Amino acid sequence: MIISHSADETIAFGRQFASALRAGDVLALSGDLGAGKTCLVKGIAAGLGIVQPVTSPTFTLIHEYRSGRLPLAHVDLYRLESAAGIGLEDYFDAPWVTVIEWAEKIETLLPMHTKHIRLTALDEITRQIEVT
Ligand SMILES: Nc1ncnc2c1ncn2[C@@H]1O[C@H](COP(=O)(O)OP(=O)(O)OP(=O)(O)O)[C@@H](O)[C@H]1O
Ligand SMILES: [Mg+2]
Repeated sequence: MIISHSADETIAFGRQFASALRAGDVLALSGDLGAGKTCLVKGIAAGLGIVQPVTSPTFTLIHEYRSGRLPLAHVDLYRLESAAGIGLEDYFDAPWVTVIEWAEKIETLLPMHTKHIRLTALDEITRQIEVT
């Protein structure tokens, strides 16, 4: 568990976390609106060497980034109504890193080896980040 005191610290944590990522890893991010999930993904993308700016895939569901050490699929399920047929297995079964915001919506569909990261806002600028 770490405490982040700024968005920059959360990005730095994501960068560092990315160095241990391997092809096929799945990260399930949970936490309230504004907890810092997308902020963490920005750091992970930077740590993988992705050069494009990371934006929230809230309406498109998935953004793919291929310019890094590993391809990254950034998924946001906030607006998802039914988990049927979104085809995330295609990423899980291939050498992608898949990072999923609001992953609790598809908890039962996640692979066994999924790493869970929970972000909790403690105040306006402080976030608790727990990896399990
Ligand atoms: N320590 C911190 N870590 C991360 N973000 C922080 C921190 N302190 C303040 N913030 C601010 O909190 C907001 C986090 O927004 P972000 O889009 O990353 O949240 P989110 O969890 O992805 O929300 P959503 O559920 O809407 O997708 C940003 O405006 C960021 O600047
Ligand atoms: Mg987000």
